[in-house]
Amino acid sequence: MKKKRIALLTSGGDAPGMNAAIRAVVRKALYHKFDVVGVNRGYQGLISGDFSQMELKSVAGIINRGGTMLKSARSKEFMTEEGFATAIRNIKEHNIDAIVVIGGDGSMAGARKLSKAGIPTLVIPATIDRDMQGTEYTLGFDTALNTILEAVNKIKDTSFSLDRVAIIEVMGRHAGHLALMAGIACGAEIILIPEIAFDIDSICEGLIRSFNRGKQYSILMMAEGVGTGSNIAAQIASRTNFSPSVTVLGYLQRGGTPSAMDNIIGSRMGAAAIDSIMLDKVNCLISMQHGDIIAVPYNQITENKMGIDCSLQEMANIIAI
Ligand code: F6P
Repeated sequence: MKKKRIALLTSGGDAPGMNAAIRAVVRKALYHKFDVVGVNRGYQGLISGDFSQMELKSVAGIINRGGTMLKSARSKEFMTEEGFATAIRNIKEHNIDAIVVIGGDGSMAGARKLSKAGIPTLVIPATIDRDMQGTEYTLGFDTALNTILEAVNKIKDTSFSLDRVAIIEVMGRHAGHLALMAGIACGAEIILIPEIAFDIDSICEGLIRSFNRGKQYSILMMAEGVGTGSNIAAQIASRTNFSPSVTVLGYLQRGGTPSAMDNIIGSRMGAAAIDSIMLDKVNCLISMQHGDIIAVPYNQITENKMGIDCSLQEMANIIAI
């Protein structure tokens, strides 16, 4: 029987837990006597032919590191006809049987495109935004949440000292998962996410009510998809006597040692991707559903829709508590 040769790449925004998934893919693939090729810098590396043979030792000492040892990129060229054709040519020249893509929704779109062109792919969901259809978990989300929590706890100390309203702007692109869960986890007074409309006047009234009740500081957690922290601060300042502090956590949220959860799920998803290839089950998202890791065919997952998978009503109820 011909030895299977698989390629592995990480694409888009890096996310803690990607290295655990890389490590599991490589180690399980080698256990099954596959050949494994690492592609550097995501889809851009498929175009430039930036491939390297992966051995057991290639993935030693990476599980404790954030980012991705394979590096990543947001490749515009891959979306062009010429770039895509070059990528396909390189994949065929290297006799690749299947590609494991680790990344978010943009990476998933690239994997779907390859599979439509006859290249079998599998996607391991990884983005701190958690904005993917078809899975309840994306790698990096848990670590980012913990990073935000740690930062907010520090901001609480200074906000308490100066009786401040503290605005914390977190990532998430167009989705509010990160802000919502971080806000719940840190006990924020106000959470603003793009999925739920809000009224700045009632937010200000709420802040004044809390202040009059004796609250010494307030945390307003907002998703970047809602706008900028400085804009919300200006709106509050023009309606009240508060002059809120603004902290944009930015890229801090994407780095750092992965949480135990991200490393465990990353390892499970990596192993599941190889199991799926062994069963010839390709063109699937390695998904978490009700705690299980399963392979869901792309054609069962809605394309190009932001993945808000918990009900908006449930979110609204939590925020209203
Ligand atoms: O998708 C992850 C993410 O960190 C988003 O939360 C953020 O909006 C975006 O990437 C930033 O992208 P870039 O790294 O290209 O600036």
